Amino acid sequence: MTVGDHSGTSSSPSAAKTLQVVPRLTIEPMREDDIPLVQAIEREVFLTPWPKNAYHRELAQNRQASYIVLRHDGQIVGYGGLWKVLDEAHVTTIGVRASDQHKGHGRALLTALIQRAYTLGARWVTLEVRNSNDHAIRLYEAFGFKCIGRRRGYYTDNGEDAIIMWSDSIHAPAFKRNFRRLLSGFDIPGLGAEPNDEYPR
Ligand SMILES: CC(C)(COP(=O)(O)OP(=O)(O)OC[C@H]1O[C@@H](n2cnc3c(N)ncnc32)[C@H](O)[C@@H]1OP(=O)(O)O)[C@@H](O)C(=O)NCCC(=O)NCCS
Repeated sequence: MTVGDHSGTSSSPSAAKTLQVVPRLTIEPMREDDIPLVQAIEREVFLTPWPKNAYHRELAQNRQASYIVLRHDGQIVGYGGLWKVLDEAHVTTIGVRASDQHKGHGRALLTALIQRAYTLGARWVTLEVRNSNDHAIRLYEAFGFKCIGRRRGYYTDNGEDAIIMWSDSIHAPAFKRNFRRLLSGFDIPGLGAEPNDEYPR
């Protein structure tokens, strides 16, 4: 948390009362209004952005979908989403503005998505990633995801293979321990509380 723009503040008690504390980073559900900025980031960081109407459809019609944005001082710097299908949470996308990568934002977004997976009652989290995307693969490995397979030539733009990654059960004690450790590194409104110790049947 940090103090936002308060130019012109004085040290008087009445000024202190009106001082607004603005969190620098916040996680929020993605809204229709966010789509143009999300798409701008997507065009910048993905080789093949989703079709024009994809986010509108996802937000309006896909009841399995959850999408979030990460804001820095109100500005969207990253976004991510998942589909909850039966016991699985499938991470559909995650992206951070090029100029804001390597600052921990990808970790924050993945943390928020896994929190969402807990809230939705998922047991596992899965995703696909380009074979060459070392940066993303390292990010997922830090959360305990493992490469369990490969879809040959999955990406039609360059024929690259997709690596299929899965978490262990997100309710397993070792996964939760690591997740709590990662979560404790953030103080971001909207990120959510620690998962409890329950092991759902
Ligand atoms: C993949 C992606 C989302 C990761 O986001 P990111 O914000 O750069 O990732 P993070 O900063 O959270 O963490 C990753 C790295 O930054 C480092 N890092 C984390 N916090 C940091 C900090 N405060 N200062 C410096 N480095 C930091 C981590 O150690 C990690 O380093 P590593 O790459 O050597 O493992 C981002 O690179 C991206 O949008 N890529 C393009 C789209 C994409 O490929 N998406 C994934 C599709 S599957």
